[in-house]
Order: sequence, then C-alpha cells, then structure tokens
Amino acid sequence: MARDSKTPTSKSGTTAVSLSVNGVDRKLVVGQHESIADVLRDRLDLRGTKIGCNSGECGACTVLLDGVAVCSCVTLAATVSESSVVTVEGLAREGELQELQQAFMEHGAFQCGFCTSGMLMSAYALLSQQRKPSDEAIRTALQGNICRCTGYVQILNAVRDAAARS
Ligand code: FES
Ligand code: FES
Repeated sequence: MARDSKTPTSKSGTTAVSLSVNGVDRKLVVGQHESIADVLRDRLDLRGTKIGCNSGECGACTVLLDGVAVCSCVTLAATVSESSVVTVEGLAREGELQELQQAFMEHGAFQCGFCTSGMLMSAYALLSQQRKPSDEAIRTALQGNICRCTGYVQILNAVRDAAARS
C-alpha cells in the first residue's frame, strides 16, 4: 500500500498527493509527518474522524483506505497518493443515514460519541466484505476500537442488526 518510493518529495520535505476523499478528488501538498487524520481534519475540515491516542491504539481515527479499515493517525498522507479514502462523512447518502448509522442510533450504541466514527468505519469495512458476519467476526473487526463509555454490547447488537437488515 505504501507508495513513498514512487511519490516525489520536494527539497522542502513536502509531497504532492492526489486522493479521492469520499468520492471527491483532492490534490494537496503535504508534509512528511502529516497523517491522513491531520489532512482530513485540518485541511479538508472533515472532523468526523477523531484523534484520540494519536498512536494507533484506540481506533477513533479509523477510515477506509482503498476499502481497508486503517488508523489514519499513523498513516502518513505522503505515502498514500492515488488512494481512495472514505470517512464517516462519506457514509450517508443524500441526507439519508447509512443503515449501520441508523442501527447505532436505534440501539443506543454511543454516549459521548468519540469512538463512534471509528466504530462505524471498522464495522462498515466488515459488512462490505461479509454481509452476514458471525458475532466472533464482528468482535474481531472491532477489536482495535476502544469505547470508554457505552460498553460493547449495544455496538455489537447494532452491527448485527445492520447486517440482518441488508
Ligand atoms: S487516534 Fe488513531 S488509533 Fe487512536
Ligand atoms: S461512546 Fe464515548 S468513547 Fe465510545
């Protein structure tokens, strides 16, 4: 996935990257240490992606990168040019919540909501691969996402229910 060997870096240490973000083509010049999370939040004003630990431990920053759930806080933007990024803002369509988002609401699968976008993106990646995952598969998909307030039962129920509706 890393493309740093192919992506030209200027003498100033910046790199021109092209990304598709929620289906919109974006061209940016990024610093060598800028993460995808930094770019999303600070450059593109997509603040649904949260930064918690900023070290790949909590999953709050999870986005889809070429369809795979990744921690955007530890993925350097300069290494992923020509990739497709989907964030939580990309889930709803024309004002309609994605069924997974609807299920989270109906099951009360969040309280403060800080973990929610990361949970949604990990679950969305799973359901994109497996329409009817087992509970074990759901737990495995979400094992990198930490919630400090809701508890995991409602989250598991929401993902299971969203899968059942599809
Ligand atoms: S903020 Fe990225 S894993 Fe915690
Ligand atoms: S709802 Fe608060 S951290 Fe999960």
